[in-house]
Amino acid sequence: MTMNTASIGVQDLLCEYEHNPLGLDVGEPRLSWKLVSDQRGIVQSAYHIRVMDEQGDMLWDTGKVPSDQSVHVSYRGPTLRSGQRCIWQVRVWDGNDHPSIWSEPSWWEMGLLHPSDWQAHWIEPAWDDDPEAFNPCPYLRTTFALSKQVISARLYVTAHGLYELSLNGQRVGDAYFTPGYTSYHHRLQYQTYDVSDLLRAGENAIGVVLGDGWYRGSIGAFSLRNYYGQRLGLLLQLHVRYADDSEQVLLSDEQWRATTGPILKSDLKEGEIYDARLEMPGWDQPEFDASRWQSVRIANYSLENLVATNGPIVRPRERFVPVAILTTPAGETVVDMGQNFSGIVQLKLSGPAGTTIRLQHGEALDKDGNFTMEHLGLGSFLPPPAQEVRYTLKGEGEEVYTPSFTTHGYRYVKVEGFPGTPMRDNFTGIALYSDLSEIGTFTCSDPLLNQLQHNILWSQKSNFLEIPTDCPTRERAGWTGDAQLFARTGSFLMQTGGFFTKWLKDLAAEQKPSGRVPNMVPSPERGMQINNNPVDFLEGAAGWGDAAVIVPWTLYQVFGDQRMLHEHYESMQAWVEYERLNAQDKHKPAGYTAPRYLEREPLAHERYLWDTNYHWGEWLEPDDPVPALLFSGLTPETQQLLSAPHVATAYFAYSTHLLSETARVLGKEQDAREYAALYQHIKDAYIREFVGQDGRITPEKQASYVRTLTFDLLPEEFRRRAAQRLVELVQQSGTHLGTGFLSTPFLLHVLSGNGYLDVAYALLKQETSPSWLYAVKKGATTIWESWNGIDEKGNPHNSLNHYSYGAVGSWLYQVVAGLELGAPGYKHILFQPQPGGGLSAASATYQSLYGEIATRWQIEDHTFQLTVTVPVNTTATVGIPVTLGRQVTERGQGLATVEGVTQVRQEQDATLIEVGSGTYTFTANHPAADVIAHRSLTT
Ligand code: BGC
Repeated sequence: MTMNTASIGVQDLLCEYEHNPLGLDVGEPRLSWKLVSDQRGIVQSAYHIRVMDEQGDMLWDTGKVPSDQSVHVSYRGPTLRSGQRCIWQVRVWDGNDHPSIWSEPSWWEMGLLHPSDWQAHWIEPAWDDDPEAFNPCPYLRTTFALSKQVISARLYVTAHGLYELSLNGQRVGDAYFTPGYTSYHHRLQYQTYDVSDLLRAGENAIGVVLGDGWYRGSIGAFSLRNYYGQRLGLLLQLHVRYADDSEQVLLSDEQWRATTGPILKSDLKEGEIYDARLEMPGWDQPEFDASRWQSVRIANYSLENLVATNGPIVRPRERFVPVAILTTPAGETVVDMGQNFSGIVQLKLSGPAGTTIRLQHGEALDKDGNFTMEHLGLGSFLPPPAQEVRYTLKGEGEEVYTPSFTTHGYRYVKVEGFPGTPMRDNFTGIALYSDLSEIGTFTCSDPLLNQLQHNILWSQKSNFLEIPTDCPTRERAGWTGDAQLFARTGSFLMQTGGFFTKWLKDLAAEQKPSGRVPNMVPSPERGMQINNNPVDFLEGAAGWGDAAVIVPWTLYQVFGDQRMLHEHYESMQAWVEYERLNAQDKHKPAGYTAPRYLEREPLAHERYLWDTNYHWGEWLEPDDPVPALLFSGLTPETQQLLSAPHVATAYFAYSTHLLSETARVLGKEQDAREYAALYQHIKDAYIREFVGQDGRITPEKQASYVRTLTFDLLPEEFRRRAAQRLVELVQQSGTHLGTGFLSTPFLLHVLSGNGYLDVAYALLKQETSPSWLYAVKKGATTIWESWNGIDEKGNPHNSLNHYSYGAVGSWLYQVVAGLELGAPGYKHILFQPQPGGGLSAASATYQSLYGEIATRWQIEDHTFQLTVTVPVNTTATVGIPVTLGRQVTERGQGLATVEGVTQVRQEQDATLIEVGSGTYTFTANHPAADVIAHRSLTT
């Protein structure tokens, strides 16, 4: 094979998961690049990075570094300064030591790194709002003159509440809900904007509208208000650089003026009220007369909690034209967007001044076809959010209104007070969610499964809005359990690196010194009580708090993000120690504190059984009586029901195992050994307590078998029997799943991994409830919270947009399409499709940090064909599911001579082929009896 310099190219340079990030506060930003080649079997043998400052002076020149690392290479040059821009390029050498040409230059720019960089003051409108009521949004403005030619300008800004900002009447950026949602007490993001092009010589104006947002609006499961503070405020700093290299800085200060305007109420959950008659044309232009506006006051808040924005922010994404405008049996006008999602309605209309239109946003129609929002609450426990918008016309021709500070989970919009006959083009649905790129696709020959995949993606979009939420309607809370169980599926579909990096920082910030993790992050909670005793009801539940360990581990797996493990090691360890402490004898010696290090014999009182505290248990198994009891009120009896020692002990074991693995990856050998030993103790205790002599697991439920098998908490000799028993339980329920939130992600994996691929497919394809396809058959466009989201009669129940059960997605990609991790970050890939369920084809694509991975198989005329794409600088093992003796070829050629194939192994039920980068099409030319058999079993 001949190579020349053109055999390998470098493109798609990323810094901290982003293209050219502006305003970083990461001291050693990590650099990644993708390699391309038109040849097979190409690797990187060395790289050379050079980083320059804006003047072209070299900051860091690695020289030629022999290494195959092409993702997450940490910058190791001189310490970076606030506002510093770094321009970087990379070139690489292939396996034959031939160099590529230099990549196109990319850049990153640092934000304000120190509290002392902020000369601005927090400003707040001078008037007092009524904390009990919804208050009009403050409008703030200032003007300033620019005397010289501007070279560049950076705006650094954040708010208490949300801000929408304009410069000389032009909106700055297209983001929604800035500064985003974080654990504000600990971390408040600011954004950095390049506003060089928006400034002009002479007078300029900045205008800012503030909304309640998460800061003082309704948030979390209990719709608490004023949680972070009662006063909205702004912190802003504009750095203008002139051609003569001088700088002018404009600040939020007492010069600013404030007033209220057309937004009379803004609340993320409750909605927005806008009176267009109160608009102030030109209010954000320099020439506007603000002499009647009020003053602002300087507020003193610590600047220590300010952090840069390193993850994706919310942006307007898909736009929906209504599929229908209905008149319901109740005579109401209802707009149907055809898709359930999180976002807003943009109104375009005209009518007499003073006419008020009311929009209510709901997810479903009831059995009679009438608009309803009843199911969006939980009885008297949690009322449904209002999700209501009111717009009053100013009566001046066509008016366009786009809400600023609210978002709704909805598909249907009930319209009242519309002037004239509403038409489809009066309403545009705009989806709002964190701007993560979509990196994974899955399709197969079954349209119902394709719809399921669509629904999973849309529940992710609807719920990845600043934080991973349970639903975009009722609670909108960062439930840790939901996030951890969906992280793997969600990270296939979207690039979650930045999103989870941000959220995990909040998780760690809110973790208690004991290691206890709130069940929601951020956790706007006020203590709950049973019989006047405070209860730790919303913290530290097994399967929820374990997000502290599972999410970093998942991100390490899928993105090879080792820094994530490094940065969260303490938090992960603290959580496991918390579990350990609670799994000790209930009568702990006074003053006992969790041991930091485990270099000692287990303490006498250590039992390794976690049977204390509250837990949500498996949560929402079909027919689970606990949620209903719970929502009718918290009593000591429900408390009893919420102790789930089998779940808690199993998660204690699982997290301990992952922590031990993490320690191994980080080179903490001692910890790795000790946590491995701890895991063994927990496993023994679990077996003693929950596994009978006959291999039966207590409680005898599908979830127990799934969890026990997944977390490997059985003596080896019981595994086969346990899997059999699981299958019996599935069959006893008429081939229906019986799992809840925690085990559903693992159910099909456990079945296919233990020889029951056919049962897994049968469950996947089941169409009666409880099942995934029941919802699909009922017309779902998202994943439901409960299996009976819309019952047989057609009535909706609970949230219809909860991604948790969508965690079955991982099985679609990993098993059906067969795109599986072979090494962290997909440095090595396992293609191991397992056809079945009557499918004749399936495919998946995935934009890994190394480049696109693709797989597509099809069965036609008794021929199995698999096409895979392996990115440059990675390798793969391809498993062709055929029995011994079947001949496999690559584009008609015997495997022994195929370029890029490095090894072929024949196993009982598969041919395993080791390959380097490139695209390959393998064909098993003879009838593959086993593949065909799988198909016929389930057709
Ligand atoms: C939420 C869940 C959450 C759960 C805790 C529910 O009300 O919607 O998704 O995980 O409470 O059990």
